[in-house]
Amino acid sequence: MSTHKILMLPGDGIGPEVMAETGRVIDWLNGQTGHSFETESDLVGGSAYDAHGEAISESAMDKAMAADAVLFGAVGGPKWDAVPYEKRPEAGLLRLRKDLDLFANLRPAICYPALASSSSLRPEVIEGLDILILRELTGGVYFGEPKEIVTLENGEKRAVDTQLYTTHEIERIARVAFEIARTRGNRVTSMEKRNVMRSGVLWHEVVSAVHKSEYSDVKLDHMLADAGGMQLVRWPKQFDVIVTDNLFGDMLSDVAAMLTGSLGMLPSASLGAPDEATGKRKAMYEPVHGSAPDIAGQGKANPIAMIASLAMCLRYSFGQGEAADLVEGAIADVLADGIVTADIAAKGQNAVSTGEMGQAIVKAMGKRAG
Ligand code: IPM
Ligand code: MG
Repeated sequence: MSTHKILMLPGDGIGPEVMAETGRVIDWLNGQTGHSFETESDLVGGSAYDAHGEAISESAMDKAMAADAVLFGAVGGPKWDAVPYEKRPEAGLLRLRKDLDLFANLRPAICYPALASSSSLRPEVIEGLDILILRELTGGVYFGEPKEIVTLENGEKRAVDTQLYTTHEIERIARVAFEIARTRGNRVTSMEKRNVMRSGVLWHEVVSAVHKSEYSDVKLDHMLADAGGMQLVRWPKQFDVIVTDNLFGDMLSDVAAMLTGSLGMLPSASLGAPDEATGKRKAMYEPVHGSAPDIAGQGKANPIAMIASLAMCLRYSFGQGEAADLVEGAIADVLADGIVTADIAAKGQNAVSTGEMGQAIVKAMGKRAG
């Protein structure tokens, strides 16, 4: 049995609380036969800035490079509002994504039956929802140069961000979209703004070409990203896999997350290309929610998105589909039993704490495992 090395980067705000519950799940798995996970932890975000003056230290980056997978909590908070832009907590996250070349960000939005009434949409619109947003994660306006604020001769300032995509960057994310679609509903919707952006024109062209030459068995549709956002809240079940750029993916995945009832439910996986020699991908798993400083340290946070991110890690990095099913099944069991944290509690329903939710999930795993 091989040992898998996991680097935990809990980060700021509720990050450490939800990571602790994920550690509980890992401990339980380590107690079962057939699993061996070795974990270590380091700082990222504001907590790393406080300790080292950087949003991530070189030694934490080295550990991330060497790990089989990284589990990431959340970063940021008002405490660091005034730190220099290059050292802001989010810079640690962006550096990890870029240096590990994690270009493919998988953000599934699944509606658990027990939560259909927590969504702001009518239950029939979201019951049974199972869609996947595939966000390009290392290109576009997040990283394009120039990216600056300059002072003009007349004293006015001018800010520039650059939306930039190359053929290769679009091709590789398109391939991931089609490959994943083949394992699910076999449909891809590509979203861009080709009506106003050159990068949208190229995106549309390249996705169409990859489809035509390699994946014509998959159904492909194109949508302008604004219309796509509207369709996501109108009738989300029309989608299977949505592939889109870094910025549109950021926005559309928050919309998709809320369809499911709470941002506290949504996991994500960020994957690199498979290594030519070993076939292994660099990978980082993180909840879609942020650091929620307003509820940090109060035991109110929902650890499900972080624990479900571990399930994605088991599936995508370690090929342990059964263990992933066990974790995901236990989450569904707990919700079906009416065990909820405050963010997903219906009116009048009692909310459990972060730790109680983690314990309940581990207990449900034990039950399922028999
Ligand atoms: C996300 C977050 C990040 C992003 C922030 C924290 C930099 O919103 O992962 O969706 O914009 O990508
Ligand atoms: Mg976001």
